Amino acid sequence: MEELSRLAVLGAGHVGPVIARLAIKAGYPVAIATSGDPEDIALITELVIPGARPRWAADAVAAADIVVLAMPLHRFLDLAPGLLNGKLVVDAMNYWPASDGVLKPFEDCTSSEVVAGRLAGSAVVKALNHIGYHELEDRARPAGAPGRRAAGVAGDDPAAVAAIAGLVDRLGYDPVRLEGLRAGRVLQPGGPVFGTVLARSDFERAVREDARSLT
Ligand SMILES: NC(=O)c1ccc[n+]([C@@H]2O[C@H](COP(=O)([O-])OP(=O)(O)OC[C@H]3O[C@@H](n4cnc5c(N)ncnc54)[C@H](OP(=O)(O)O)[C@@H]3O)[C@@H](O)[C@H]2O)c1
Repeated sequence: MEELSRLAVLGAGHVGPVIARLAIKAGYPVAIATSGDPEDIALITELVIPGARPRWAADAVAAADIVVLAMPLHRFLDLAPGLLNGKLVVDAMNYWPASDGVLKPFEDCTSSEVVAGRLAGSAVVKALNHIGYHELEDRARPAGAPGRRAAGVAGDDPAAVAAIAGLVDRLGYDPVRLEGLRAGRVLQPGGPVFGTVLARSDFERAVREDARSLT
């Protein structure tokens, strides 16, 4: 049997546990962390994410092949970038000025480009950010199942994008690859597929129509 990548999910709020649960269901070894002591989330993890291992963030990352950023963007800015060196990083975060505060760099660029700029030693892929956590769990379906929906995957490193497309597929969504982190704009708040849960053909149409509207 193929050995699956080890995941570290950084963030145990709304979306982190959902991603962790989907990954465990798909057979991935999963560690989950907050900024604090893993003891603090041990009981809740056992109850809500059975199978996930609560760890200190640094230990979870060190042991992982893929790190999922599932913390608020303004908290990411406090994270030492070196921690993620050499890792394949899924940026599932969004820039919300109302809760993150106005962060100048994020006003001018896609949020994942700024994240990737801070994580020069990592391969950053934007994914799992554009579907609300309830839907993300409820709408996940195995490949080929009726009603399966699409999820976008954007990155500048083709091998990293392919790896995360595989993760998204196993988690329960048809991965739609976008050409580069900048193209991940469509996945952000205000983008045409943000907050939607579309079938692949509708997703691709929405992205095409958005591109046409910009020309
Ligand atoms: N909610 C959704 O439906 C949804 C869906 C897709 C994407 N997103 C995006 O995902 C991000 C998180 O959203 P959320 O709603 O899950 O937030 P949330 O409920 O506020 O949870 C944030 C989690 O991040 C942890 N955290 C903060 N700093 C950390 C650090 N340095 N290392 C590890 N963990 C850290 C927090 O724990 P401590 O404070 O104890 O450290 C908390 O467990 C946002 O950018 C959001 O836009 C959300």
